[in-house]
Amino acid sequence: MLAEQIFLSVLAAAVTVQAYGFGGSGWDAAYGRAKAALNKLNQTEKVGIVTGVKWMGGPCVGNTYKPSSIDYPSLCLQDSPLGVRFANPVTAFPAGINAGATWDRSLINARGAAMGAEAKGLGVNVQLGPVAGPLGKNPNSGRIWEGFSNDPYLSGVAMEETIAGMQGSGVQACAKHYIGNEQEHNRETISSNIDDRTLHELYVWPFMNAVKANVASVMCSYNKVNGSWSCENDALLNGLLKTELGFPGYIMSDWNAQHTTVNSANSGLDMTMPGSDFNNPPGSIYWGPNLEAAVANGSVPQSRLDDMVTRILASWHLVGQDEGYPPVAFSSWNGGKANVDVTGDHKSVVRAVARDSTVLLKNDNNALPLRKPKSLAIIGQDATVNPAGPNACSDRGCDTGTLAMGWGSGTAQFPYIVGPLDAIQSQAAADGTNITTSTTDDTTAAASAAASAGTAIVFINSDSGEGYITVEGNAGDRNNLDPWHNGNELVQAVAAANKNVIVVVHSVGPVILETILAQPNVKAIVWPGLPGQESGNALVDVLYGSTSPSGKLPYTIAKQFSDYGTTWTTSLVDDFTEGLFIDYRHFDENNITPRYEFGYGLSYTTFKYSDLDVNVQARPGAAEGPIVPGGVKELFDTVGTVTVTVQNSGKVAGAEVAQLYIGLPDSAPSTPPKQLRGFQKLHLAPGQREGATFELTRRDISYWDVQQQKWVVPSGTFKVYVGSSSRDIREQGSFRI
Ligand SMILES: *[C@@H]1O[C@H](CO)[C@@H](O)[C@H](O)[C@H]1NC(C)=O
Ligand SMILES: *[C@@H]1O[C@H](CO)[C@@H](O)[C@H](O)[C@H]1NC(C)=O
Ligand SMILES: *[C@@H]1O[C@H](CO)[C@@H](O)[C@H](O)[C@H]1NC(C)=O
Ligand SMILES: *[C@@H]1O[C@H](CO)[C@@H](O)[C@H](O)[C@H]1NC(C)=O
Repeated sequence: MLAEQIFLSVLAAAVTVQAYGFGGSGWDAAYGRAKAALNKLNQTEKVGIVTGVKWMGGPCVGNTYKPSSIDYPSLCLQDSPLGVRFANPVTAFPAGINAGATWDRSLINARGAAMGAEAKGLGVNVQLGPVAGPLGKNPNSGRIWEGFSNDPYLSGVAMEETIAGMQGSGVQACAKHYIGNEQEHNRETISSNIDDRTLHELYVWPFMNAVKANVASVMCSYNKVNGSWSCENDALLNGLLKTELGFPGYIMSDWNAQHTTVNSANSGLDMTMPGSDFNNPPGSIYWGPNLEAAVANGSVPQSRLDDMVTRILASWHLVGQDEGYPPVAFSSWNGGKANVDVTGDHKSVVRAVARDSTVLLKNDNNALPLRKPKSLAIIGQDATVNPAGPNACSDRGCDTGTLAMGWGSGTAQFPYIVGPLDAIQSQAAADGTNITTSTTDDTTAAASAAASAGTAIVFINSDSGEGYITVEGNAGDRNNLDPWHNGNELVQAVAAANKNVIVVVHSVGPVILETILAQPNVKAIVWPGLPGQESGNALVDVLYGSTSPSGKLPYTIAKQFSDYGTTWTTSLVDDFTEGLFIDYRHFDENNITPRYEFGYGLSYTTFKYSDLDVNVQARPGAAEGPIVPGGVKELFDTVGTVTVTVQNSGKVAGAEVAQLYIGLPDSAPSTPPKQLRGFQKLHLAPGQREGATFELTRRDISYWDVQQQKWVVPSGTFKVYVGSSSRDIREQGSFRI
């Protein structure tokens, strides 16, 4: 063995979970059972538990070998983060980005629980989600909609709630993609070179929440980090994830993100997926018999293989899959027809998430809500369901008809989509409203349909997805942030023919709206994102005011694309030179005025803030002491609270997301002026007032100190901002440490 290999082997042996206690989190008991089972397995069985049976070798997108010596299945691993892919009937949930836009912990949890129940009902052991990578530093990145927000705090809370919901229903969650997979172009060759502080404070942050929530598994990503593959990066896997964050579960490769037998094993990879050479050179099956040989010749320690197996079995025990777990009820490869119906009443969760994630961007002269209008024109292809069916394009890889999810592996089959036009027509029938339509994107037809109506609603969209599919010239990542299908021209044509125009935007992420906003007849803009199967119903809830809109932007909408300062690259190296300064951190630092800032969203009512109270006490300096799943235990201790009173000062019921931002003292090295560190959604009747309470943890007021390699609370004056968005700050205070 080379000296370096010996070193790695010793290190790998040292980084086993036996070194940690798990603080009574359920892992201790799960490890006890896993170790008892490990002793009954022979070497071939152990290798089989960590190796996929090859692409399409079983009913799921990933499957492992079934041992005979213990009661343990061929594990079924299945996409996606918004529902069970390649199966039907299933529920097509709103995308992650919509869950983020609700800023509602209990709804995010309910979405996770409903998804987990469907996965379990179909016999899926591991559902491949939720997503915190891409985090979304590039507004045009193809898969940003699979995750929750480009703010690590919001993403972290959503990871935690989703995982708690999913695993509470019995399925193992998989936090992905770890890490730096911030674009689709060249994702399998690019190196994301991320400095240590940025890595901790932005990209790893939500994974800390995931590990703290006892996530069963983490998926390492396709890209390299600092020149070495994520799935065999010792610093990232053994170092950061397993040692620093104390992750007790297992790390699986993204599908063919593994490149070696020995180095991946010794760097901390625990499971290879799908176990074949489906994208790599023929013959590159790295584990299976090759792993057995590598253990036999001493280049991978036996303790490392035992550790892989223990982690995988413990995760299975942790979520209770050792008792009465349903068999796999579908096959991904023959249409996916399941022999059970697991959908229950999950459409009500879909509708609630879709409704409460809808962001009202503009509403001049109270154009909304609609009140039994005499006539309405409904314009645009995005108002209707694709006539060929909502699943006409494989993995949703086309932008025909109304947009309700992006494309790629992060999708599920729609059981149906309630189209916006269908739902508006039902409401119009009840109201006696005369509807005219133009359901193409033809500007002449649009203008003539809009001309005679009192109000025109124009539907436009912008789509993206995973890079293995190119849609209308977009190879996963978006080519620009403009509306697709000449959406700007469509709105212009309608606004020239009608004085009361409402624009609805279905989108994967930010869209530049300047052309649309330049039309004085555009009175309102509604932003339902990617709402899933209940699209039209949720939209009607908001348009007609049965519910006040309460979604808030989980990202910034800029006036022009270049204002973001970040974009995907065609280079094979991305140096992440923007560091901590992405999205609102960048706009704040550089005094760039966004069009609609992070955290922004209007309501049909108004809210008053008062009585800010700040009570924070913490010892300055580094977090020290034992590690629990998530990191140093002390980081998660509450160090104080910020409270504020919010009153509904308008005439209708509504919900407000009160947001807390913290500015670190000058003694901390260059840090964004303010960073989200708390939020609470309050549902308030007219006149009602309620307190919002933000609990701050030690992590929330720390930065990552590169020299000390620790999270440090700096000394000095911390600024406290509480408000309705990242720029609509209503109350300010401070505390000293
Ligand atoms: C290991 O167990 C499997 C059954 O799971 C059996 O087929 C195989 O022969 C065993 N291998 C050895 C070396 O005993
Ligand atoms: C990557 O390189 C940067 C710059 O040298 C360093 O700060 C960081 O710790 C490295 N990260 C990893 C995971 O090796
Ligand atoms: C040990 O076996 C593995 C798998 O066949 C192989 O990749 C590796 O080069 C071998 N190492 C030595 C030192 O023989
Ligand atoms: C509905 O509007 C169209 C177009 O303006 C008009 O031709 C038609 O008579 C109207 N129908 C009713 C019932 O008002």
